[in-house]
Amino acid sequence: MKPRHFISLLDLTGDELRQLIHRAITLKHVRDHHYQPLKGQVLGMIFEKSSTRTRVSFETGMAHFGGHALFLSPRDTQLGRGEPISDSAKVISRMVDCVMLRTHEHETVTKFAENSRVPVINGLTDREHPCQLLADMQTYFEHRGDIAGKTVAWIGDGNNMCHSYIHAAMVLGFTLHIAAPAGYLPDAGIVEQGADHVRFFDSAHLAAQGADLVVTDVWASMGQEAEQALREEAFKEYQVNAQVMAAAKPDALFMHCLPAHRGEEVSAEVIDGGQSVVFDEAENRLHAQKALLELLLCGDAKISLLND
Ligand code: CP
Ligand code: NVA
Repeated sequence: MKPRHFISLLDLTGDELRQLIHRAITLKHVRDHHYQPLKGQVLGMIFEKSSTRTRVSFETGMAHFGGHALFLSPRDTQLGRGEPISDSAKVISRMVDCVMLRTHEHETVTKFAENSRVPVINGLTDREHPCQLLADMQTYFEHRGDIAGKTVAWIGDGNNMCHSYIHAAMVLGFTLHIAAPAGYLPDAGIVEQGADHVRFFDSAHLAAQGADLVVTDVWASMGQEAEQALREEAFKEYQVNAQVMAAAKPDALFMHCLPAHRGEEVSAEVIDGGQSVVFDEAENRLHAQKALLELLLCGDAKISLLND
C-alpha cells in the first residue's frame, strides 16, 4: 500500500484539517507521559536549509511520543555529494518510519515521496510551507474559533508561506487579501487554483481593511540573501505597522512564522504588541505536528487512547 504523505496543505480535506487542529489542542493540554504511540519509531529529518522551530518541534514531538528523530544534513551525508534523490529515498525509507524534508526545490520532496516506502512530510520548500499553516490555523482556532468565512490579509512577498495561505483559504473556506509589490506576486498557477478565495490589493492598508488576521513574512527568504537590498527597496511600503493594523478589525490578530526582522516586514510595536500571537504560533508547531505524525503513522486505535 502507498504511504500517505503531507507535501501540501491540499493533501488534507477541510474535515481532516479541523480534526487535526482539535487533536493538536488536546495534545497541548493533556500531556500524558505514558502515551507513546511512536515507541521505537524513527523520523528522518533532511535539512538543506537552516531551521530552529521545525527541527526542535519535530525532534521534541518524536521524543514525547516515545520515538526518535535523526537530523540529516546534505553537508555530511551522501545527499550533498550527488547521490540521486530517488536512491536516497529508497534507502532511507527502508530504515526509518517517516521522513521530513526541508529543501530548496519542491520537486526534491515530491521525488523523494514517489520513491519512499514511508510517509514524507514537507518541512518547507521554496514553494510551500504546509507545517507552518497547521500551527497558524491551530493558533487562530484557539484565539478566535473557526476561520471559515473570515478575512486574512497577507502583506509582503508572494512566497512559500503565501502559497500555503492560499491553500489554507481553499481548504478551510476563508478569504485571503494579498498585497505584494509587482514582481513579487505569488505563483500564477496557485492563484488560479485558489481564485475563489483570493483578492489582490494595491497597498498594505487596503488589504488589511476589515481583516480578522494580518500575516507577513520576511522580505528575503532563505536562498535569497543576495537580493536583500533590492528587496528592501521593493517592499519598503509593505511593512506591517500600527497604521496597517489600525485598518484591520479592532480584534485582528497578527501572525508571522518567524524568524522576523523588526523594522523591516513588521514594526517592533506590532510583533511585540497585544495583537501578536507569534509565540503561540511557534509553540503550536510542536502540537500540530504531533497531531500530524499521529495521522500519518498511527492507527485509530492508538489515537483513541488519549481521547478516552
Ligand atoms: N517558521 C519556521 O519554519 O521556522 P524555522 O525556519 O526556524 O524552522
Ligand atoms: N519564507 C521563509 C520562511 C521561513 C520559515 C523562508 O523560506 O525562508
